[in-house]
Formats: sequence, structure tokens, C-alpha cells
Amino acid sequence: MSTDLERRLSNERWFHSIDMGDFATSGRFKPGEPQNATLYGFMDLIKEIDLSGMTVLDVGCSDGLASFGMRALGASQVHSTNSFGREKFAVVRDALGLDGIDYHPDLQLKDMVAHFGRGQFDLILCAGVIYHMINPASAFTECRKLLKAGGYSLWKRPIIPMRSAPLSFSIPKPKWSPTPRPIRCLPWPL
Ligand SMILES: C[S@@+](CC[C@H](N)C(=O)[O-])C[C@H]1O[C@@H](n2cnc3c(N)ncnc32)[C@H](O)[C@@H]1O
Repeated sequence: MSTDLERRLSNERWFHSIDMGDFATSGRFKPGEPQNATLYGFMDLIKEIDLSGMTVLDVGCSDGLASFGMRALGASQVHSTNSFGREKFAVVRDALGLDGIDYHPDLQLKDMVAHFGRGQFDLILCAGVIYHMINPASAFTECRKLLKAGGYSLWKRPIIPMRSAPLSFSIPKPKWSPTPRPIRCLPWPL
């Protein structure tokens, strides 16, 4: 028998499939395809990092799967941003009983230094975001400003199997890959 929460969430469109205990949100892929596959590399990698005591930023969190996971894995505080508003983030976060996660909708990377201040984060996840940006290279410099010295940034982007066109706004069949290791922040400011 479905609960009010399940009925409510089943009426929404989902980017992530999120395990709610008795049911999961649908995710964006067709039934039978592995949901959340683009975050598999991140999921493997993040388990190797001790998040305890860390203040973490999830840039462009969408439905929040990675944010919820990092909090569950021990991050002290997670800040989750989106470039547009999504009311269901708070519904899912609260239903999962996860405190310590602040949601910042309608926030773009270019405005985050003004919003959060410099050097605030021990770890920044920027997954699936840079190819949406007019100036993708600025993502690295903006995240560098937001990181504490010695912090980590994790990046996920598609590998496009083409000989030319390193940047494309029409990506036919991307193959997904995480950065093999987190990029350790250099100890000098930008
Ligand atoms: C493909 S989704 C990735 C969602 C999630 N990070 C993941 O990997 O499953 C792209 C996300 O990038 C965010 N985004 C797009 N342009 C952005 C920008 N200029 N600054 C910050 N976030 C942006 C959107 O809000 C959206 O949540």
C-alpha cells in the first residue's frame, strides 16, 4: 500500500532515484536501465574519503542524491546548490531525517563566492555541471576560491568519443567517467 509520501513523490519528475526506504523515486532513465549510473564513480570514490568534520559543497545537486549520501557518510555540514528552485529537495531531505543539509536554490557558481565567502569548504563536488556553463573553465577557478587550503574538489564530466569538438552543447552518446582521484587543492589563494 503506498503512503501519502510515495503518492506525492511519484507525481514528480526525478533526476535521481533516491532510496526512501519502502520505495525509491523513479530517476531519469528508462525502467530497467541503471539509475544514477553517472554517479557510480563518485559513489566508489567518496567512500575512500573520511568526511567526518568536513563542510561540503554539492554544486548543482539536482534532487540531492550525492548531498544526502555525503551527509550519511559523515560530513558535518552539507551545502547543496541548484541553479533553479526544486521544492522536493526539502521534502526528501526531511523524510530521510537528514539534518545538517542546507539547500541553496537559484544559485549559480559565478555567484557562490559572494554567497558563501572564500575558503569555506573542505570538499566540493561539481558533478555534471561544467558542460552547462558558458565558461566551463571558470568552474575550476570559482571552486578553487571556495575551497579551504588543502581541501578536495571532485569533478564529473562526460568523455565524448570524438576526434574533434572538445566542447559540445549536443552530446550524442556520452560515456561517463569520474576523475580517478580527487584533485587536492593547492595551498595558495586565487
Ligand atoms: C546534469 S545535472 C547534475 C546533477 C548532479 N550534480 C548529478 O551529477 O547527478 C546539472 C546541474 O547543474 C546545475 N547547474 C547548471 N548550470 C549551473 C551553473 N552555472 N552554476 C551552478 N550550477 C549549475 C543545475 O542546477 C543542475 O542541478
